[in-house]
Amino acid sequence: MKTKIIAHRGASRYAPENTMPAFELAYQSKAEGIETDVQLTKDNIPVLIHDEQVKRTTNGTGYIKDLTFEQLRQLDAGSWFSGEFTGTQIISLDELLQWVKDKPLCLNIELKNNKIDYKHLESIVYERLKDYQLLNRTTLSTFNPRSVHRLKDYNKDIGIAFLTSKRNRNLVSHAHELGANAIHIKYRLLNKLLVDQCKQAKMAVRVYTVNRSAHIMKCFTHECNGIFTDIPDKALQFRTNF
Ligand code: G3P
Ligand code: CA
Repeated sequence: MKTKIIAHRGASRYAPENTMPAFELAYQSKAEGIETDVQLTKDNIPVLIHDEQVKRTTNGTGYIKDLTFEQLRQLDAGSWFSGEFTGTQIISLDELLQWVKDKPLCLNIELKNNKIDYKHLESIVYERLKDYQLLNRTTLSTFNPRSVHRLKDYNKDIGIAFLTSKRNRNLVSHAHELGANAIHIKYRLLNKLLVDQCKQAKMAVRVYTVNRSAHIMKCFTHECNGIFTDIPDKALQFRTNF
């Protein structure tokens, strides 16, 4: 099985994470998918950003939940990465969906609701995907087991993944009981037994965040369904030579 190469927060080694330049670079490098993180603004707009606060990746301060979309738009989400990206803006989920719609890309939208459990985040994101007719090439993932459970009614028309970095002998059955049809695991959890259990349960397995050559190769050897990588160009090159 061909392991899909999914650009983690876009091609985030080369451009500021979760911004249009990072997504564009991922597409240009021929990545097969885009991973991104979504949270809700004060005025309930789904926006793409990893941390709950804007401090690390913009020139502003404060929590996403306390700022309106217009306020977030004023921030510079590029210069922290390099001067070349000064003026890059935070984008809404809608902007990404509009851009993806006519491209042969799959999506992994991570609901960032494990620290702040945003009300209705699941249904807001699901409805947007439905509007853009992107349900059949999207997986929704979250570290929050309660959120996976809330998503379970959607698991016939969309991928639902339980994200974890914790070792658990019963991970596959736990994810299945929650209603997930995929697990997204931290690299160090990857082993043959887990992959076999996933195959048996018809559960997809994808691995994050895989940047080292040996780790990328190990994921190919185990025929994982996908890897999340900051360097999709390198991973694609390795896959060609694998
Ligand atoms: O979705 C895989 C990976 O992105 C989860 O961890 O912290 O990079 O969002 P994190
Ligand atoms: Ca993520």
